[in-house]
Amino acid sequence: MRCVILLGPPGAGKGTQAEMLSEEECLEHISSGAIFRENLKNQTELGKLAATYINNGELVPDDVTIAMVRDRLSAITSESGFLLDGFPRTRTQAEALKDVLQEFDENLRVVAIYIKVPSQELISRLTGRLTCRAEGHIFHTKYNPPKIEGRCDHDGSELYQRDDDKPETVKKRIQVYLEQTIPVIDYYQNQALLVEVDGNQSVEEVSAAIRSALKV
Ligand code: AP5
Repeated sequence: MRCVILLGPPGAGKGTQAEMLSEEECLEHISSGAIFRENLKNQTELGKLAATYINNGELVPDDVTIAMVRDRLSAITSESGFLLDGFPRTRTQAEALKDVLQEFDENLRVVAIYIKVPSQELISRLTGRLTCRAEGHIFHTKYNPPKIEGRCDHDGSELYQRDDDKPETVKKRIQVYLEQTIPVIDYYQNQALLVEVDGNQSVEEVSAAIRSALKV
């Protein structure tokens, strides 16, 4: 069983790569951001609380996020394993994850993939992103346009711009990433679990680099 952790700044392509990789490798895709957005869509208390942080470009508090992911991990059914997208993103979350992973099979293989992209590229990726309302499939006005304008290629549902993809919120998210999530990259590097991949190339090239990193 495998635990693949996708790390990288907002807009690095974690969600895009996670969609492809989870299907190819039969890994359950766990995106903390998507779980928050689903809760918001359903107007749950968790969703309403998370929205107050998300719309300001801030992280949802650790205790709330850890409890949510712990709960989701307790429901894993795939024997191949799971892929974490957007979690952990603080040192406290990384340490909590380590504890939770102790409860899995002792042969669980953990690898953290760091998708590295320069900051100036992130702004155009995020401000041009289009997200599918039904399932969260990801497109881009220029880099990955849908076949029919405004509609998802996979399920035909409406594409929208996330509230947190406005330029001022994007800048704040990148700043929060630099302050709070870079230490997570160091954390996995120090445990020799980190593989760095150049995210500043085409989606297909990034995907090939991740696949080859996972074979090692
Ligand atoms: P979350 O949803 O996790 O957002 P994020 O980490 O900021 O990442 P993004 O989804 O913005 O980007 P991505 O790397 O997935 O890129 P994508 O593939 O879409 O979190 C949202 C919020 O929820 C957080 O700000 C926080 O408030 C809260 N939250 C979530 N997890 C939390 C946690 N653990 N703790 C606390 N709070 C948490 O690609 C971006 C665009 O680029 C797309 O348009 C895509 O088509 C395009 N693209 C992708 N790859 C390429 C490429 N190689 N070349 C050109 N374009 C590309």
